[in-house]
Amino acid sequence: MTRAASSPAPSELGKLGELSKVLELPPENLIKSISAVPVSKKRHVADFQFSIASVAEGSSSDCLAQDLNLQAQKLAKRLKCDAVVREISTGPGTVNFTINRELLAKTVLQQVLKDGSEYGVKSELFSTVPRQKAVIEFSSPNIAKKFHIGHLRSTIVGNFIANLKVALGHEVVRINYLGDWGMQFGLLGVGFQRFGDKEKLQSSPLQHLFEVYVKINKEAEDETTKKLAKDFFRKLEEHDEQTLSLWKQFRDFSIEEYIRIYKRLGVHFDEYSGESFYQEKSQEVLKLLEDKGLLQKTIEGTGIVDVSEKKDLSSFSTVMRSDGTSLYLTRDLAAAIDRMNKHSWDTMIYVTDKSQSNHFQHLFQILKLMGYDWAERCQHVSFGLVQGMKTRRGEVIFLEDVLNEVRSRMLQNMASAKTTKEIEDPVETAEKVGLAALIIQDFRGLLSSDYQFSWDRALQSRGDTGVFLQYTHARLHSLEQMHGNEQLTDVNVACLQEPDAISVLQHLLRYDEVLYRSSQDLQPKHIVSYLLMLRRGSVSFKLHAQF
Ligand code: ARG
Repeated sequence: MTRAASSPAPSELGKLGELSKVLELPPENLIKSISAVPVSKKRHVADFQFSIASVAEGSSSDCLAQDLNLQAQKLAKRLKCDAVVREISTGPGTVNFTINRELLAKTVLQQVLKDGSEYGVKSELFSTVPRQKAVIEFSSPNIAKKFHIGHLRSTIVGNFIANLKVALGHEVVRINYLGDWGMQFGLLGVGFQRFGDKEKLQSSPLQHLFEVYVKINKEAEDETTKKLAKDFFRKLEEHDEQTLSLWKQFRDFSIEEYIRIYKRLGVHFDEYSGESFYQEKSQEVLKLLEDKGLLQKTIEGTGIVDVSEKKDLSSFSTVMRSDGTSLYLTRDLAAAIDRMNKHSWDTMIYVTDKSQSNHFQHLFQILKLMGYDWAERCQHVSFGLVQGMKTRRGEVIFLEDVLNEVRSRMLQNMASAKTTKEIEDPVETAEKVGLAALIIQDFRGLLSSDYQFSWDRALQSRGDTGVFLQYTHARLHSLEQMHGNEQLTDVNVACLQEPDAISVLQHLLRYDEVLYRSSQDLQPKHIVSYLLMLRRGSVSFKLHAQF
C-alpha cells in the first residue's frame, strides 16, 4: 500500500494490486490517488488515504460529496486487512489505511538509509515527469543602481527553483541578466569622467559606481551634462573603442564583486548576460516584426505592436523609440529568441517582483504573435513586495549590506544567548544561520504575498524560524556524528512505537508529495512548512535530550 517511500516493497505493491482489482483500474492509475495523511498534533491519524474523487467520474456538487462518502464506505467494506494493512477506515471521500506499525518503521527507515540525500526525489511520483532543460533567469540587478529587496527575493527564489530542478534530475542553466545598458550609462560615463577614481572602481566597484551615479544625477538636468551623456551613450552604441572599454570595466569589475557576494549566499550563475548583449539583435527583432506585419508606427514615430485580442489597439506595447533605438521589451524579445537558439530549452523561467507581470505578459504574447510556439513554455514567477528592510546604516543599497547586517545581528544574538556553545568559527556560523533565517522568513508564505520585514522575527531562536531549523539540523547532525548511522541497519523497530515516533515516521512518508507540490507550483512554502513540522516532530520526539 505504501507509495510515498521511493520504491515500495513487493508485499505493499500487492496491496495496491488488491485495490486495483476491486476498482478494476490499473495500479499505475492509482499512484496519484493515494497520499500520506498529514500528521496532526491533536489526533492519531491513519498513514495513507485513497481519494475516491480522483477515480470517480462526474461533476462536483454537494450531493456528490455525500455520494463520495458512500462510495468510500462501500469500497472500505470490500477491502480486507492483512499483514501489511492493520486497519481500514473512512474519512470524507477517502478510504484510510493504517499500516502495520513495525512494517511502517522498517520500510521508512530502510528507504531513508538506502536513498540517503536522494530520499523523496527517487519517488515514483516523479517517474512520469520527463527530464527537462530549464533556463532560469534570476537576480538581474542594474549596474550602478541599488540592489533592492526585489533583487534579493529574485536571487533566493530563483536559486530555490534552480536547486529544486537540479535535485529532481533536470538540466538547469542559471542566467543573470544584468541591467547593463541604456541612457543611464551615458550619464554614468560622464559622471565617471568627472568624479571617478580608477582605484576605487577596482577595489569597490559597486559602491563607487553607485556614488558616482548619485552625484551625476544631481546634475542631470543641466544642459551641458545632458548633451555629454547623450554623446557618451551614442559613442557607446557606435562601439567607440575608448568609451566601450570604460563601460566594459564598469561591467567586469561589477561582475567580479557580484560573484564574490553571491558566493556568501551559496548562489552561482552559469551565464552573466545582460541587456547590452541585445542592442544589435533587437534591431533584427524590429526587422522581423516589420516583415511579419506586426510593427506599427505612431504619429510620434515610435514603433508599437498590437497585443489586444480584437486587434483594436486597446492594448499595445512600444518596442521602438522614435529615433529607432530599442527598449527594455525589445531587448527581452531578442534575449528570449537567442536563448532558445543557444540552449534549446524546454522551459524558461523569469523571476522578478509582480510589478513586472505586465511586461512579461506582453513579452510572451509578442513572441507568440511572431510564431514562436515555445512562448507557451515561458513562465514568469512573480513575488510580492517586502517592506521595512533597513540596516543600521539606513536604507539597503547593496546586497552586501544585508548580508553583513544578518551576520552582525546573529553574532550579537549568539553572544547574548547562554546556550551557545564554543564554536570554531562564530562569524561563519552566524552568517550561515542568519541567512537561513532570512530565507525561511521569506519562504514561509505564498511568494505572491507582500510582507513586512522584521529582523527580530526572522532571527528569533525559538519558534518557526530558520535559526531553530538550523539548530535542530546541527543537533541531529552531531548525534549522527557521535553514533554513526551504520547501527540503523539493524534497528529494533519495536522501539519506535510511541506516538511521537510514529508521527515522525508518518511525516517522513509525505516528503515526496511535498517535493512534488513545490515542483509543480514552484512555491517553496510547502517544503518550508514540511521542514518546520519535521523539526517540531523531532524536538517532541525528545532527540534533544540526547545531546
Ligand atoms: N534588471 C531588471 C530590474 O532590475 C530586471 C530584469 C528582469 N529580467 C528580464 N528579462 N527583463 O528591474
